[in-house]
Amino acid sequence: MQDAQLVSVAQALISAWVPVTLALTLAVALSLYHCVERKPVDIDPSMDIDYFMLSGAPLPRPLPDFDLDRAKPRPYRPFRWRYHQTMALAPLEHDWWIELESTYKFRVNQRQYLYTKHGSAVLQSMPGSEAACKEMMYMVIQFLCARYPNHFQFDKNTCGFTNRILGTSDDIDTVHPLQFLLNNVPEDFLVTQKDPGTGEYFLRAAVCCSAIGFNMTGKMGRPLREIHGPVPDYEWKLKTSVDKFFDRMPVEKPIQRGSWSFEVGQPLYLQANDPEYMEHKRENPNLRIEDVYLRIDWQTLRRLPQSKAILFNFKALFTPVTQLQEEPYIPQLILKVLKEGPASIKKYKGWSHLEHRLLPALEVYARDQVSRGLVPEGWQERTLDEQPFFPGWQSVSG
Ligand SMILES: *[C@@H]1O[C@H](CO)[C@@H](O)[C@H](O)[C@H]1NC(C)=O
Repeated sequence: MQDAQLVSVAQALISAWVPVTLALTLAVALSLYHCVERKPVDIDPSMDIDYFMLSGAPLPRPLPDFDLDRAKPRPYRPFRWRYHQTMALAPLEHDWWIELESTYKFRVNQRQYLYTKHGSAVLQSMPGSEAACKEMMYMVIQFLCARYPNHFQFDKNTCGFTNRILGTSDDIDTVHPLQFLLNNVPEDFLVTQKDPGTGEYFLRAAVCCSAIGFNMTGKMGRPLREIHGPVPDYEWKLKTSVDKFFDRMPVEKPIQRGSWSFEVGQPLYLQANDPEYMEHKRENPNLRIEDVYLRIDWQTLRRLPQSKAILFNFKALFTPVTQLQEEPYIPQLILKVLKEGPASIKKYKGWSHLEHRLLPALEVYARDQVSRGLVPEGWQERTLDEQPFFPGWQSVSG
């Protein structure tokens, strides 16, 4: 063999060898990576982590001139026809994860009062949920400061969170995350974590002041399938396996949905053993339609990117039923659902004690909207294209 031939054979060997070594190295690296990934990642939650970047779900667009006192909640009307017994889940509108509006101060106050009165029935956490709770708090802080920069600031040097609406500040190194949420965000937050043994999701921490007929004492540490009330409500139970659904939920795809009910007044927290509860659920012949409210629980669900816990948060919004007169198609659509939806929703939603006032009022509103030309005569009820809103909702809601 000539020298030149030797060289070219050597070159050929090398060039063949390089991809082989590369492939081997890659394979080793990948299998190592795989091993690392399978073990729980031991990273402490920290405000240095950009949780939105980590989750692949964008931060909200800022509202630098947000005027809290004039802000109205968006008029969520999650009514659908045909009434499918499935979860009406939609991708989360990232800007609207936490939506502040003019009742902010009142609600924070009310929730703090409920905590003083009921303690662990509204705020509770279990060992093992610490990291998830911190991560949840950091994510909320990052959202609030990005969305409402004139109202909330975070100082990295002091770890101080400033709430300019309430004139308060918190040292986020020492405050309990659930306490922080109670004092700054008028929404309920429930943390569920997967049990590595059984693969089931369990409720492990919550601040929950908007519960009607249940409380955290009865639910904490319980598996998801035993938890009704908001997580999951009766539609959830129809899913063959909520656990499987939770398991597959990707970090970058949070979801939103609404649940509705009709109430006398605006009860936020009410327990079955409360005398007010029986009063609340009793049929009253003198009931005035002005006292009946549509209650919407607007819910979002997301997987926390670091702890992989599933976070469920929601707010309760009340609208006087009389206001529905001004919302095209809504009275007729609600009537259809109430009158022709499955019988079980009547029982489940518990509105039969309101029926004698609610149905006639909605019928008047629906006819009136036809005569005002807001709804065409003979409109066939169906889920609106604008759902969960209605045509012209921006102007009606101000
Ligand atoms: C919480 O719910 C349980 C039932 O799960 C009930 O026994 C208890 O009285 C409730 N607690 C409060 C404070 O209402």
